[in-house]
This record gives sequence, structure tokens and C-alpha cells, in this order.
Amino acid sequence: MGGSRQIPIANRVGEVTPSLTLEISAKAKAMKADGLDVCSFSAGEPDFDTPRHVVEAAKQALDDGQTRYGPAAGEPKLRNAIAQKLHTENNLPYSANQVIITNGGKYSLFTLMQAMINPGDEVIIPSPYWLSYPEMVKLAGGIPVIVPTAAAQQYKITASQLQHYITPNSKLFILNSPTNPTGAVYSREELTALAEVIVNNDLFVVADEIYEKILYDQAEHISIGSLNSEIFERTLVSNGLAKTFAMTGWRVGYLAGNEEIVKAMTTIQSHSTSNVCTFAQYGAIAALENPLSEKAIDEMLAAFTQRRQVMLDVLSSVPQLSCPTPYGAFYLFVDISETGKTSLEFANQLLEEKQVATVPGIAFGNDNCIRLSYATDMTTIKNGLERLAKFAQNS
Ligand SMILES: Cc1ncc(COP(=O)(O)O)c(C=O)c1O
Repeated sequence: MGGSRQIPIANRVGEVTPSLTLEISAKAKAMKADGLDVCSFSAGEPDFDTPRHVVEAAKQALDDGQTRYGPAAGEPKLRNAIAQKLHTENNLPYSANQVIITNGGKYSLFTLMQAMINPGDEVIIPSPYWLSYPEMVKLAGGIPVIVPTAAAQQYKITASQLQHYITPNSKLFILNSPTNPTGAVYSREELTALAEVIVNNDLFVVADEIYEKILYDQAEHISIGSLNSEIFERTLVSNGLAKTFAMTGWRVGYLAGNEEIVKAMTTIQSHSTSNVCTFAQYGAIAALENPLSEKAIDEMLAAFTQRRQVMLDVLSSVPQLSCPTPYGAFYLFVDISETGKTSLEFANQLLEEKQVATVPGIAFGNDNCIRLSYATDMTTIKNGLERLAKFAQNS
């Protein structure tokens, strides 16, 4: 016994990039704990409380004894409510048995990769991307194929770009609209062109629609699967209640799609998480069905709209910074390359020198930018932006 010992960590972990966002937010938290006045633009969740009627429904479910194991694919009542929602709001005719309830949108995507991807399969991901996509693909043994996009195209992949990156090993394309981190929203025309490439090449697409309700300036969310029956057959929709209903901690997400794939995901889920917390699912039913939710969403959107305008107004006055106008989600993806710094240098120095926390774009596959979230109060926005502007101007 004794001596140096090799700690047994599986090789697959070595393939995965540790989360840069967690690192910088831990640093910001430590600075706050030291009493420093930190302005944070790093939040990935609405700064609102879960609506009261949703909380009450979960409490009632607890009182009613909804405290036991449930079916691995989710409570039938919630699967039905989601099928109904997808039909009426998104024009997607799924039946309840094509819906699986998962631990957040994150676990729906993770399980989908486990269910669909074989070693060597390629998954096409436009960059900038939500940082978990490539890691989930790698954890399933697949190969993330990253397609760079530019600010001039509002960071949206075009149909010809998608076509260019398809190989005989391509299996799946990840489409996220509205997009984290850029706020881009794909139009009907853009989606139609992408759908044609997907169908012609017999690919599948997973549409991550988690920000579908967070839209500005009359932007419209269109589900790619609603365009025609051919693309519908090849679409998997991933969504969740976290962002729309301020329910990040509840961990209720879902995926809808081909029944065989949903079954395969259910098998994986039955051996990993079992079911999503039963009484949380009852809260989710209330979020989807109670008309009071609409008012709560409207209030949240009114606040986001106001903050977004303030952010855009201030940023447009700083020559060293630029960003395309975002039409969805609650992020701005700001180009800082004029300052001559990498995104990590910029974010670290900004935090150390001005106590402003942002997320370096390199975490999303783009080193020219930083991500600013406006899921924070107006005072933080005004103070933080003033400091950010000064920092950029003196860089
Ligand atoms: C683009 C995108 N997809 C999915 C998720 C997953 O959200 P959750 O697992 O909380 O439902 C997030 C969360 O930040 C996200 O930004």
C-alpha cells in the first residue's frame, strides 16, 4: 500500500472541455464574497421568480402524495400537455407517446446523443454555439463538426454552408433558434432553405427551441419541423420550461420526435435518472395550462425588452465594440476584437480591473467576442456598461 496512486478517471472525461463559464462565475462570486461591487452579465437564467401558480401547483402535488417514482418517459398528463402545446403553438402534430420528459433541456439533448450517435458519427454545429453541444457529442463518441459563422450573417448558418460540411458520416444537425449566445432568430426563408438541405441529404435535425418565447421587435419563432411533412419526419424538438417560465432549478425539459428515438431515449433514461421529479412535473403542467402564465411571460418580456434597448444604446456609442441586433433570448454577443485582446484576456481583465463579469466568447467557439446577459437588474446594467465602455475605450 501507499506510494503514488493513479486515480482512475475514464478516458472520455479527458475529451471534454471543462466549463469556462463556471470558472469565471466562480471568480466573480469569490470577488463578491470579498465585498467587491461586482456587476455580473454572466447569468444564463431569468432573474425572475417562478410564477406563483406554478409553485402552488407543485405544493398541491406534494400534498396530494405525488412523491413516488413515475414512468421513465414522464407523467402521462404532462406528455399530453406538451403534445397539445406543440400542436397548437408550434404546428407540430406529435402524439403524447412521441414526447419524453427529461431533466431539463440539457438532459434531453444529452440523452438524444446517447440514443442516436455511434462512434465516428458527425454532428454539425454552427458556431458560436451553446457550449454543451460539442461536449455532449464527444461524450457519445461522436465528432462535432463546427461551422463558423460571422457577425455579417448575424451568426446564422446558411444552407450552402450546411451543404458544404455534410459528409457520408453526417448524422445530425443542431439548430438553435433563438440562439444562445448571439440572440439570432432564423426566418422562415432561412429555415426553408436549411430544411431542403437536411431532407435532400437524409439528415436529422435537433431543433433546440428553449428560447422560443423570448423574442423582440415582432420577431417570429418558427419550428423548422412545421415547414412540411418531410422535414417533420427528420426533426427532433428539444425544449424545456427553464427559460420561458423562470423554472431553471426545477429541471423539467422535454424532447419530441420519432417514436423509435423517443423509446431509445426512454430506455437510457430508465437506467440513468429514472423519472424527472414527480411533483416538479405537476408544476410544469400548471405552467403550460394555466392562463396566468401568459401574464408572467409578458412581464418578464417587458423587462427584457427595456434592458436590451439600454444595452444596445450604450454599446452603439463605443467604437471599439459592436454586435448584431439580437431578436431573441437575453444575450448580446459583442465583438471586442478592435481592442486587440482575446476574449479570455478581455473578460479576465474586465473582471479584475472593473469588477464586471462577462463570458468569454471562446467558450462558445468564437474568440473575438464576449457574451453579455441582460438577465439582471437595470442598476447593474447601467453601472456595468459604463465600466465596460471605459475599459474598452482605454484598451
Ligand atoms: C441553448 C440552450 N439549450 C438548452 C439549455 C438547457 O436548459 P435547461 O437544461 O435548464 O432546460 C440552455 C441553458 O442554458 C441553453 O442555453
